[in-house]
Amino acid sequence: MSSPVLTVMTAAVRKAARTLQRDYGELANLQVSQKGPGDYVTAADKRCDKILREELAKVRPGYAFLTEETGVVPGTDPDHRFIIDPIDGTMNFMHSVPFFAITVALERKDELVAAITYNPITDEMYTAEKGGGAFLNNKRLRVAQRRDIHETLVSYEVPHRGGKDLPLSRAEISVLQARVVGIRGTGSAALSLAYVAAGRFDAMVCRNLHKWDIAAGILLVREAGGFVSDPDSERNPMETGNILATNADLMPQFKDALSKAREK
Ligand code: IPD
Repeated sequence: MSSPVLTVMTAAVRKAARTLQRDYGELANLQVSQKGPGDYVTAADKRCDKILREELAKVRPGYAFLTEETGVVPGTDPDHRFIIDPIDGTMNFMHSVPFFAITVALERKDELVAAITYNPITDEMYTAEKGGGAFLNNKRLRVAQRRDIHETLVSYEVPHRGGKDLPLSRAEISVLQARVVGIRGTGSAALSLAYVAAGRFDAMVCRNLHKWDIAAGILLVREAGGFVSDPDSERNPMETGNILATNADLMPQFKDALSKAREK
């Protein structure tokens, strides 16, 4: 049973997803145009953001927002804040690659308490509530139980062109390649975290993210029995923007591997 607020969040996400599904269908025609789909995607992103904010504000007036499209929207309630990315995986969306998500988290007194990550194309709805577990379309999730880094499949997000930490990223990929079974770059940090919660990926590593990319995913992983950490310290990834998500046995092994990359 979901709490009332998670029910409200789910309804808002489903409504926003309907416009995104339509926009995604239209995108195929724009791919081949010379101008490309850039402006169209920006408009789709903004539309989705607006629907989410309007729907959530209707039922939870006073809650603040932090969204990728609008930034900080202060509320009258000092304890609650929705954190939203209307399209995480924008580049995939733009290229008609069906690996992107609407991702929404709720913070209460700075603590993540509810989360949704929804892929509107595959209709996979990942939800979590603090202390209530994580679910995929109502089926309980559990992180993968592999204990040896040498048996793992890892999501590693490569920085965008001109992005920060390119040399570090190359060193990390090289160190990980020598230890893990496979590395995947998905283009959606939010969905990669959901895949860790679902036990599909054994671990996920990504740097230089925003709060809206990872807030929901952090709760999903924790509620599926996993752990998240800054890769280089014990700090909170919500503060540093760098994240390593995996199970308890693998956490020290990945930290060790990544520390070797920093020494390179
Ligand atoms: C991006 C995705 C991607 C990550 C980028 C983010 P966006 O979010 O999460 O996986 O590597 O750093 O910016 O821009 O598609 O919302």
